[in-house]
Amino acid sequence: MEKLLISGGQRLKGKVSVSGAKNAALPIMASTILSAGQHRISNIPLLRDVNTMGNLLSHLGAEFHIQNSTVSLDTRKINTYEAPYELVRTMRASILVLGPLLARYGQAKVSLPGGCAIGARPINLHLMGLEKMGAVIELEHGYVTARAKRLTGAEIYLDIPTVTGTENLMMAATLAKGTTRIENAAREPEVTDLADALNSMGARIHGAGDSVITIEGVDELGSLEHQVIPDRIETGTFIVAAGITGGDITIENAKPEHLESVIAKIQETGIQIEKADRGIRVIGSTRPIAKDVKTMPYPGFPTDMQAQFMALMAIADGTSIIRETIFENRFMHVAELRRMGADITIEGSTATVKGVKSLKGAPVMATDLRASASLVLAALSAEGETIIDRVYHLDRGYEAIEHKLRQLGANVKRIKE
Ligand code: EPU
Repeated sequence: MEKLLISGGQRLKGKVSVSGAKNAALPIMASTILSAGQHRISNIPLLRDVNTMGNLLSHLGAEFHIQNSTVSLDTRKINTYEAPYELVRTMRASILVLGPLLARYGQAKVSLPGGCAIGARPINLHLMGLEKMGAVIELEHGYVTARAKRLTGAEIYLDIPTVTGTENLMMAATLAKGTTRIENAAREPEVTDLADALNSMGARIHGAGDSVITIEGVDELGSLEHQVIPDRIETGTFIVAAGITGGDITIENAKPEHLESVIAKIQETGIQIEKADRGIRVIGSTRPIAKDVKTMPYPGFPTDMQAQFMALMAIADGTSIIRETIFENRFMHVAELRRMGADITIEGSTATVKGVKSLKGAPVMATDLRASASLVLAALSAEGETIIDRVYHLDRGYEAIEHKLRQLGANVKRIKE
C-alpha cells in the first residue's frame, strides 16, 4: 500500500494549476450513454474514479480512451444495461448510469451503492423521481432494476437537494416524453456543467444552477464535445494549503465564482485572497483567526471543504465551531488530527476546535477522500514528519497531488511498502 511522507514547515510559494472537476467529469461521462455516438470530453482529471467510470462504460459496451486529459467515448455499441457490484462498490458515483441507461434503453440494473465511510447515503430520491417519470423499480438481491418503455415528463420535488439525484433525474428527463420540473434541485456548479453538456447534445434544459430545473424531453441527442469546469474543491484545498503554511501561491485555471462561500470564509480568517491573472492568489499571513462554519448545499459552504477547513482551524488563534449538516459521519479526520496534537471535541454533528500553536507530525490513516486532504494540509503545517497511510483515498480526487505540492516547495514523497 502507498503512503505519503510529508515533512512539514515549508511555506508554499509559486504557481499551481487546478485540474478538471471530478464531480462534473463523472456525470458528464455517464451522460454519453444517452446518445449512441462518438464523444469527446476535455479537461478531465486523471483520477482513479475517472478510470472506474471509464471501466463501467466499457463494461456496458462503450469504447473508452483517455489521453492528455481528454476522454473519447464511443457509445454506439452499448449492449449491457447492468452496473455490477464490483464496480459500484468502489465508486458510489456509478449510480449515475441509472438514469441514462433507463432513458436510452428502457432498462437498467445497478447495484445498490450501500453505505460508506461518511454516511448511509441512500438513493431513495433518485428512485422516487424515476418512478414519477413512469419507471417500474424493483429492489432485489442488492440491485435496483428499473424499466420503462419511455419515461414521461413529471413534476418532481426533492426533499433534499441531492447532487447526483438531480443529475440522474435531469439526464433521464432529457429523453422523456413531455416536460419534467425538478423542484428543490441541487444548484452545484457541477449540475450546471452537466446541463451545459447535455444542452450542447441537443437537450432542452432550463434553470440549472437555480432550484427549479425544467427539462423538455427530446427524441434523441447528438454527440458531445465539452470541456469540464475546474475543480472547486481542489482549488479550495490549495487555498487552505497556502493559508496553513503562511505561503503565497497563485492558483491557475480556477473559477473563483464557484467558491465564493469558501473564499469569503477563509478571508474572514485573515488569509488574503485576490483575483489574479487566470485564477487567484492566496497570501497566508500569520496565524489564522478562528471562525465558525456550517456546511450547506451550494451556494453554502461545501461539505467537501469541511475537513480541510478544520485542519486550518486546528492551528487558528481561538476556538471554532464547525457544524456538518450534509453527511452524518463526516468527522473521520478528527481522530487523526488529534494524533497530530489538534484539540477537537465532537458532539453529534458539531466539532469544537480549539486552535493550538502548531501541530506535530505523526503516523495517520486516511479514511475518505476529503479527510485525507485535511491530513495532507495538517502535515504541511506540522513540525516534523507525517506518514499518511491509505493514500488511495486521496488519489480518487486529487490529480498528481504530491507533484503539485512539490512544485510549490512542499517536502512530499510517495513511498511504497
Ligand atoms: N440523500 C438522501 N436520499 C437520496 C440522496 C441523498 O437522503 O436519494 C442525502 C444523503 O444521504 C446526504 C444528502 O442527501 O445526507 C446529500 O447527498 P447528495 O445526494 O447531494 O450527495 P451525492 O450526490 O451522493 C455528491 C458528491 C459528493 C459531495 C455531495 C454533497 C458526486 C459524485 N459526489 O454526492 O462528493 O460530498 O454531493 O455535495 O458528485 C467527494 O467528492 O468527496 C464527495 C463525497
